[in-house]
Amino acid sequence: MNVPGPEVPPFSHQPVLLHEVVTALQPKAHGRYLDGTLGGGGHAEAILEAGSPGGFLYGCDRDPAALRAAGDRLGRFGGRTEIHHGDFSGADQWITPGSLDGILFDLGVSSHQLDTADRGFSFQQDGPLDMRMDPSGGGPTAADLVNTLPAGELADLFWSLGDERHSRRIAQALVEDRRNRPFTTTGQLAASIERVCPRRGSPTHPATRCFQALRIATNGELASVREGLERAFPLLTPGGRLAVISFHSLEDRIVKEFMRREARDYDYEGPVDHPHLRTPRPPRGRELARKGIVASDAELAANPRARSARLRVLERLPEP
Ligand SMILES: C[S@@+](CC[C@H](N)C(=O)[O-])C[C@H]1O[C@@H](n2cnc3c(N)ncnc32)[C@H](O)[C@@H]1O
Repeated sequence: MNVPGPEVPPFSHQPVLLHEVVTALQPKAHGRYLDGTLGGGGHAEAILEAGSPGGFLYGCDRDPAALRAAGDRLGRFGGRTEIHHGDFSGADQWITPGSLDGILFDLGVSSHQLDTADRGFSFQQDGPLDMRMDPSGGGPTAADLVNTLPAGELADLFWSLGDERHSRRIAQALVEDRRNRPFTTTGQLAASIERVCPRRGSPTHPATRCFQALRIATNGELASVREGLERAFPLLTPGGRLAVISFHSLEDRIVKEFMRREARDYDYEGPVDHPHLRTPRPPRGRELARKGIVASDAELAANPRARSARLRVLERLPEP
């Protein structure tokens, strides 16, 4: 496969909940797996190692730079991998339904994406205000959103995707600032937000929540997760497992609700689950560890990024 894009600096990303993912997926020597968020290939490598000698892994990522790094790391497995560029919600276009023994989605961004100033994900380093996981895809950048959305929409975005309680004040200030000079860099945006919400000794940068919200919006992350879960679960064979790691409550809620729904033995009409609106049906999945799995103290000490990670696992049940 030919992946477009410039050379990347050395890739660094420490996979979270690695042991827990391998335990959940239980890779087999002739199993078939999908890692929909390859990143640097750390989880993928562990799945392939545990599934030696014959286990096969499809890998996918929206980010061409991640695919190059993962491709290098997984090269030693030869014909046991097939790597695709794109959103994991499209995996059903190249994988046969009912053919997989395990799927992993390790959501969000990699440390490498955050640490590469040019990608524009971080307020810690100045870079172009981009934030697209797939810069080759042509969609709107974070700068496009900040420079064009009306103040009300910008405030809603900061509130709903970042839980930013000063969302209105910040949005109003950004709209005024952009009249003089459109936003082009992460540093410029972080400085504008800090002017409205001074740090006052807080360890968290005041732009943290707005940056998270912009990243989620720029990449349509929540819609991808919703669609990805719906379309990936039927790719599993009965007994196959879907493992999803999320890093914030918005993602985790989508994953939890999806898994709860698949594990139920009924559907219901309308938005509210009321006993007399229920239609019985066999459960399609079985949840493992209903509350989700979080990092051990040892992992937290070694990798602070694991702090907000939660792994949920759903096993596909056979159709009766
Ligand atoms: C947390 S990192 C994954 C790290 C990886 N598990 C490892 O061991 O190195 C998340 C990766 O998923 C990718 N990603 C996020 N959402 C995606 C989606 N909807 N489709 C495909 N890739 C996605 C990001 O580009 C990023 O490289």
